[in-house]
Amino acid sequence: METIAAFLEGPFWYFSAAVFVVGVVGRLALALSLGSSKSLSVPRGSASAGAVRAVFSRFVPRRDFYRRIRLEVIAGYAFHVGLFVLLFFAAPHVEFYKEYILGFGWPTMPRWAFIVVSEIAFAGLIVLWLRRLLHPVSRKLSDAGDHIGSILIFFVMLTGCLALGEDHESLRLIHLFLAQLLLIYFPFSSLMHTFTFVFSRGYIGAGFAHHGVKA
Ligand code: HEM
Repeated sequence: METIAAFLEGPFWYFSAAVFVVGVVGRLALALSLGSSKSLSVPRGSASAGAVRAVFSRFVPRRDFYRRIRLEVIAGYAFHVGLFVLLFFAAPHVEFYKEYILGFGWPTMPRWAFIVVSEIAFAGLIVLWLRRLLHPVSRKLSDAGDHIGSILIFFVMLTGCLALGEDHESLRLIHLFLAQLLLIYFPFSSLMHTFTFVFSRGYIGAGFAHHGVKA
């Protein structure tokens, strides 16, 4: 067990973190270096204002659609907000950043809140994944990569929930290993939307504003 721990906390941690950082920065740099074709039409509004507006307005679904996508919106927020909170405010995770990355920590949420948030986020993920599998249109739009991403995060969260007792070293190591696999897979997958959603929304919003489309 000690050898496995030393491997996961040493070379494999550096490898997975390097793949994540180089992969994410590389893909973003590549996408941004492609640029966009210059629009020849007369601007009818501020592209930058449109970009910023689109980034934020898309957090709220349009009223006309909401009734039909209520489940996805609620599960989507439960999963994404929950994941953000537990990754950045749960004591064991902050402790990890302090020890392995940043050298400093910050105040964390109480343990009961960590457990509640984790279960909410996990439930959100399960609903989203089931919908992806069962809804005929979502199923057709999903490729293997989407399912691999969902399965990986499912097992990271499952092992995280099992590790909550913090009494089995093996559970901590399995959780750590799966999180590292996720880091390695991340830059090559649609999980990149964590970063790219800002650019894609901004790009579309800027185009709309330039052409005077109210959206
Ligand atoms: C339902 C969601 C999650 C829960 C309940 C959870 C729970 C935990 C717990 C209890 C620990 C401490 C284990 C111990 O010290 O024995 C831990 C550590 C850790 N978790 Fe999570 N986790 C969750 C999601 C995630 C996710 C999504 C990631 C990464 C993408 C992640 C990455 C880590 C890492 C890197 C550690 C440090 C392992 C170590 O100390 O060596 N966790 N988690």
